[in-house]
Amino acid sequence: MDAAESAALRAIAMEAVQLVGGPLAAAFRSDTAVEYKVDLHDVVTRYDRQAEQAIRDHILSRWSDSAVLGEEHGASGEGRVRWYVDPIDGTSNFARGIAFWCISIGAAVDDEIVAGAILDPVADNLFSADLTGAWLNGEPLRSSAIPEENKATLITGYPVARDFRLDGRDRALDNFATLAETFSTLRRPGSAALSIAHVAAGWADAACGFGVNAWDVTAAILLLRQAGGTYRSLPLGKIPADRPDQFHPGYMAWGNGGNYPTLTRIAEAISVGRTKAA
Ligand code: IPD
Ligand code: CA
Ligand code: CA
Repeated sequence: MDAAESAALRAIAMEAVQLVGGPLAAAFRSDTAVEYKVDLHDVVTRYDRQAEQAIRDHILSRWSDSAVLGEEHGASGEGRVRWYVDPIDGTSNFARGIAFWCISIGAAVDDEIVAGAILDPVADNLFSADLTGAWLNGEPLRSSAIPEENKATLITGYPVARDFRLDGRDRALDNFATLAETFSTLRRPGSAALSIAHVAAGWADAACGFGVNAWDVTAAILLLRQAGGTYRSLPLGKIPADRPDQFHPGYMAWGNGGNYPTLTRIAEAISVGRTKAA
């Protein structure tokens, strides 16, 4: 894929997130009834489904050689470009009225991530990336992280109830305690994509997660790397370690200049523990 083609895909991803950004922002803090999917920790609204359908229709009309994989409606279309669509990342925030959620769309060709867009419609921040760079609202994006972990801010949702089941309650709480003690600040805002976008923008230093899907992270991986940051995927015993990064269920991420040995140690220990248990 050449740079011009990846720029064209970035443009389509930007159009698609903007297409649904207005309607979702209008629905935010209105009547957002939830339904539950896998369990009571996993919510969805009718807005997730509507937005995904509009995004899919837009992508297929603009680039027919496409396969779209969305969180809510699954796979549709066949083609060289594979799109990973999360219509709302951070649905539980969206549904309750917490302004930390986004729309995330990433595109890959032969498993190489080539374009992506992430829109936070409440803050009006449009992040995007292609093979030539990363941007925030049209301006080039460069990450910057505080070098020492004891002065840095880490964003993570870890541990959630599923992590207690997978890692053991005591071990998971101990991991959390070590991270909370080590970093200057630890935050749990939700939305993996928007958390990694914050690291890409230099608004947070690091992020990690242990239960993500390709639609959560595909756009964010390219955004962070093109902004000079580091994204390390973790297979967590669920997939072969040599699979492309976007398919790994775990990650650790930091901005340019970051170096966080405690985060690395704990994330790798979680991965080894789950791999042994698998
Ligand atoms: C979830 C959010 C959450 C992360 C989970 C994701 P959803 O996505 O990004 O912060 O910890 O791994 O599944 O369900 O809000 O689209
Ligand atoms: Ca998500
Ligand atoms: Ca979602």
